[in-house]
Amino acid sequence: MNNFQFYNPVKIEFGKGAVDKLSSHIPAGSKVMVTYGGGSIKANGVYEAVLNALSGFSVVEFGGIEPNPSYETLIQAVDLARKEKVDFLLAVGGGSVVDGTKFIAAAIPFEGEPWDILVKRAEVKSAVALGAVLTLPATGSEMNAGAVISKRATKEKFAFGSPYTFPKFSILDPEYTYSLPKNQIANGTIDAFVHVMEQYMTYPAAGLVQDRWSEGLLQSLIELGPKALENPTDYDVRSNLMWAATMALNGIIVVGMPSDWATHMIGHELTALHGLAHGVTLAIILPAMLNEMFEEKKEKLAQYAERVWGITSGTTDEKARAAIVKTEEFFQSLGVPTHLKEYGIGDESFQTICNRFTERGWTGMGERRALTPERVLEVLKKSL
Ligand code: NZQ
Ligand code: ZN
Repeated sequence: MNNFQFYNPVKIEFGKGAVDKLSSHIPAGSKVMVTYGGGSIKANGVYEAVLNALSGFSVVEFGGIEPNPSYETLIQAVDLARKEKVDFLLAVGGGSVVDGTKFIAAAIPFEGEPWDILVKRAEVKSAVALGAVLTLPATGSEMNAGAVISKRATKEKFAFGSPYTFPKFSILDPEYTYSLPKNQIANGTIDAFVHVMEQYMTYPAAGLVQDRWSEGLLQSLIELGPKALENPTDYDVRSNLMWAATMALNGIIVVGMPSDWATHMIGHELTALHGLAHGVTLAIILPAMLNEMFEEKKEKLAQYAERVWGITSGTTDEKARAAIVKTEEFFQSLGVPTHLKEYGIGDESFQTICNRFTERGWTGMGERRALTPERVLEVLKKSL
């Protein structure tokens, strides 16, 4: 296990009616900007509950943050927040709204062009305080400091993170997820699953506790995903799914361990260039990635086969191969096709993706820095 420092300052208010605690977490007298997406919160009652809970505060609203939030939209929120002298941001929605709000928070005090935070990794030296009311279990954004922002004009998608963009708190009420369409539950389950895989599916690194945490989360997601699709109002299922997704990317399972993240990097390109939903890109790329990086990952794959899927017979190679098949079948069982051609996409963007990685200097990705742009091309070919 490697040396590590662990820090996560996000307060979680979890459970039915947790929104009642909202006002106690926002400094009295704050001018609050409530940010949200395309209107789901108005249809399911969350908007009303949040505004009621904010009755003692001065409130400004900014709606219309789209899935895969765009710089073009967010910069309008930055202008509004600066004009209104907002001093607290409250994101109400899924990962896109939370991510978008982190960017707004960092961009408000930023001197210069805020896109540089993403493309040039310009240092974030401060941010307006933010909190979140989460409505979609998937990204873990509610309990981490990261965000992923797209620029529609150039079809690019970049991540950033800063200690200043941790939410101060996140309200997690599982009942708020009852109104989610099935495809969002499927995508969210896959996203959380792949977050664990990015931090676990590397090589044996003597992290006994970390491995068991990861395996527990993977097993839970395998059990919960289908149940959440079958019965949208099962509170125990929805609460466990929500907590599993939060735990999958709040930093705890990866302490002292190697991590990969190449599936996400390729997935972001597929979203930016083809508009595929985030979870869908991961369902397409992960099986292809595991096949391409088989030699590098097979020891851990065999451990995963045994402990997560109960595959105990066969050689290391056989168990590892069987686990990749099980993983892909799991995604498909949630109703998410796992090949590009099933979405009407061919190899038209493959070279662009490899060129972008080369230009950015991302020439050795993954836990062993073994994923070259040439091997990215192989992953993409396997994902067709
Ligand atoms: O926009 P509204 O009308 O709210 O509708 C949303 C949106 O259309 C809808 N929705 C959300 N909650 C709902 C609901 N509909 C009915 N009932 C509810 N309770 O769901 C749609 C998708 O929402 P979105 O926020 O885009 O989904 P998700 O939470 O999956 O977020 C995806 C974004 O997060 C980024 C992704 O790249 C993508 O941009 N990620 C962020 C990460 C992070 N910050 O750590 C890590 C992830 O790997 C990921 O990259
Ligand atoms: Zn993700």
